[in-house]
Amino acid sequence: MALVKSGIGAVFWPRDAAKSNELQRVATEETPHGIPLLVGLDVIHGHYTIFPTPIAQGSSFDPSVARTDAQISAGEARSGGVNWTFSPMVDVSRDPRWGRVVEGFGEDPYLNAQMGVAKVRGYQGSALHESTSLLACAKHFVAYGQAEGGRDYNTVDLSEQRLRNLYFEPFKSMVDEGVATVMASFNTVSGRPAHANHYLLTDILKSEWGHIGFVVGDAEGIPNLIAHGVASDLQDALKQAFRAGLDMDMGGYVVDVNGSMAVAESDIDGDRVNDAVRRILRLKFALGLFDNPYVQVGDAATEPTALTRRAAHDAAVRSIVLLKNDGTLPLSRTLSKVLLVGPYADSTDHLGAWTQSFAAPAASLAQVLKERLQHSQLTVMEGAVFQGSNSSLQTQACDAAYEHDCVIVAVGEPSKLTGEASSRSDLRLPGDQEALILAIAQTGVPFVVVMSNGRPLVISDWADHAPALLEVWHLGTEAAPAIVDVLFGEANPGGKLPMTFPRSVGQVPIYYNHESTGRPARFSANVISDAPDVGLHGPDNTNDYFTSKYLDLELGPLFSFGHGLSYTHFSVGVPTSNVLCLTRDQLQRGMQFEIAIELKNTGKREGDEVLQLYVRDKVASLAQPMRRLRGFQRVPLKVGQTSVVTFTVGWQDLGFWSDSRPSRYQVEPGEFEVHVGSSLLNTQMLEVSVVL
Ligand code: BGC
Repeated sequence: MALVKSGIGAVFWPRDAAKSNELQRVATEETPHGIPLLVGLDVIHGHYTIFPTPIAQGSSFDPSVARTDAQISAGEARSGGVNWTFSPMVDVSRDPRWGRVVEGFGEDPYLNAQMGVAKVRGYQGSALHESTSLLACAKHFVAYGQAEGGRDYNTVDLSEQRLRNLYFEPFKSMVDEGVATVMASFNTVSGRPAHANHYLLTDILKSEWGHIGFVVGDAEGIPNLIAHGVASDLQDALKQAFRAGLDMDMGGYVVDVNGSMAVAESDIDGDRVNDAVRRILRLKFALGLFDNPYVQVGDAATEPTALTRRAAHDAAVRSIVLLKNDGTLPLSRTLSKVLLVGPYADSTDHLGAWTQSFAAPAASLAQVLKERLQHSQLTVMEGAVFQGSNSSLQTQACDAAYEHDCVIVAVGEPSKLTGEASSRSDLRLPGDQEALILAIAQTGVPFVVVMSNGRPLVISDWADHAPALLEVWHLGTEAAPAIVDVLFGEANPGGKLPMTFPRSVGQVPIYYNHESTGRPARFSANVISDAPDVGLHGPDNTNDYFTSKYLDLELGPLFSFGHGLSYTHFSVGVPTSNVLCLTRDQLQRGMQFEIAIELKNTGKREGDEVLQLYVRDKVASLAQPMRRLRGFQRVPLKVGQTSVVTFTVGWQDLGFWSDSRPSRYQVEPGEFEVHVGSSLLNTQMLEVSVVL
């Protein structure tokens, strides 16, 4: 309150509509300028009704999931006085050790862009002054996901071409969509912290891309410049950030309760002040705060409704990925005795990172299964712990397994191990959960594994032993009913991985869109017991020695980006294109290749398939990614139904940014492979060419 009286322009939400109104009253009536407040909050994947975490939403490969989440969250939050959310996060991330991978849409720039744009549309609605709209915030600008070693806040050093080709795309797409605000990231980019980076905040974001909203610093990002060792004190830090193009500070003590700035007015450029003020005021006007800064206290949402729960439930189902299945799933409703084990069996920790204490809680799997399995006998046991080990729990669970027809093993990563400042060096299931899975496998009783986590995990030590495995991430308020729907076949899983699952932590970073090397590995998984591999238990690399790989590991990840199975089967036809060759000029003028492909549900259940389109530039002046995702469509098909799916490939999909300064986007003439299919490893190829 004291800060508001002192004239501060934005606050964190005071957590209730009446208190928000009171702050707005003081700002508009008791300050000399009378300007209403921006009221911000991290509404990341829900406010009261919690949707799946962003990485889970990435799994849906369905932008409507992200948009619905944002629409509902915006309505709930704005009704209580929030008018600005610090979301979406679109930091492309290739390193699952970094805890914040849960807050974004995975490793691919195109997927991040599509989901990020959908979020912005949902939050910002058709007009910001509507009572269901929030200002969105694209964060964290930029390349935060490349923190060294996956250690949060760590150094980022990268080339201009990687910056432009990998990290910029989602931000640029959201700026084009009119995202209201952008948040600077905590990291350095090639030595210069983003908060003091004129090139990024002004030259790129504002000048080159034309961002007309404002740029906010991340929490204490300005004083952090002192720790970065680029500013001598707070005054210096503030001056550098402001000059670089930062328009608003977040919680960095640059204004005290008397309204005094930590920097002398004479030290700040007047034009820069006007520019920042103009950007912020424009949005306050757009929100309609000058007409009415208040909300109707009686209309404020305080909990989910049946409708918002339904939407969260659908989103949760759509975000589940079936990683493997030997036919054990879906489970039959006629099983007479079901054992549910694991630390996630009776846990309600399904909301995931970045939810507030007032979020609507989730039920546990045990609670929902008890209600649903009225004709089966359900036994629930802990079996293992998240921290340390408890072998007696495991013994009890295994003894019990013999008495049951089927075991559901519910394991995972508690949400407190995910999110900001939650980097991990060991990516296995924590505690003694792996031992529990292996022990249950030994009983010979049919079982399935349900995994709730916030990042790709290393599961190589037990995945082969699991007959069926569901990746359910942290799915939000409606997690448990959604998981049960999928377990028993009331819903058919159709999600795909938005991030690669490594075989071992030593492989990290491992991602699908890697550049070709001069020495790609050719053989893999070729273990010959008497080969002179000095007991590394890896491939026989003596035939393929000087290539890019690990001596002691099979090639490739355990599960690739884009992988995900279904309870039904699909057949994918041969792609065709209306035209196989275009000139560069035609492309630049907007002509496109139209790729059509037939998709058929050949199985016995209705289900969704996500068709993915990848492009490869065969010869270019810079080494190109082996594949680049440039299109996806989630297609629902009834049993026996066929659909012809069309994609367009154009200027934006075939080019790349050069390494010259200034960098230039270019499409180089030549042959391009277009791969379309149901996963990265299962595609049909078509070649198109671009000529001068
Ligand atoms: C995070 C941001 C978040 C902010 C405000 C920071 O620590 O990096 O993502 O929006 O806190 O809560």
